[in-house]
Amino acid sequence: MRHIQIALTKGRLEKQIVPLLEKIGIDCSELKDKGRKLVFHSHNANVSFILVKAVDVLTYVEHGVADIGIVGKDVIMENEKELYEMVDLGIGRCKFSVASIPSYNPDSYKKKTIATKYPNVASAYFRRKGEDVEIIKIEGSVEIAPLLGLADAIVDIVETGATLRENGLIVFEDICDISARLIANKASLKMKKDEMFSIITQIEEHLSARV
Ligand code: PRP
Repeated sequence: MRHIQIALTKGRLEKQIVPLLEKIGIDCSELKDKGRKLVFHSHNANVSFILVKAVDVLTYVEHGVADIGIVGKDVIMENEKELYEMVDLGIGRCKFSVASIPSYNPDSYKKKTIATKYPNVASAYFRRKGEDVEIIKIEGSVEIAPLLGLADAIVDIVETGATLRENGLIVFEDICDISARLIANKASLKMKKDEMFSIITQIEEHLSARV
């Protein structure tokens, strides 16, 4: 059995992926009691995990340091990388939306300024609508931008809607649904075919049994 390295997204997704890996029999005890460690080994499978930021999951998988990655579709959409998207895991569900203060007019002909952590997603969306907008890249807490007049609206992820609500913003347009995806390194799929497909197939079977 060849060794499989799995890159996991730190944070919200991490908590949802552990039960899924356990369901297919991969021991995740080190991940559940992790302290400040960033590399973990399974005690019953020839699998190890690294915990990294979402965009770095793509980088580790693209370069083949990780064979498999678990990351949100939002990050895949924003960053073009050479890798295979294999399974929609159905966890980490949220959506990309255009949101702003209630006085925002989405139909205004005035050129809009859009603040976002996802400039590629936002530009592609407005380009599809035939609208020329100015994009301002923000690294986080993007909801502040329309409140303080930096932008007319934001393109951001909405999960529970609590952040928008608590800051007096509302959704004007939904762009698309998002969920976590299992991605794979192209060479690993060939070189470690049996080990890779054993994990991928078990996850797919578990997900379809749940429906
Ligand atoms: C994301 C997103 C929203 C919030 C949405 O931010 O950018 O701010 O979550 O979630 P909700 O609909 O459940 O309120 P994140 O928590 O990743 O932090 P950030 O703003 O620092 O990027």
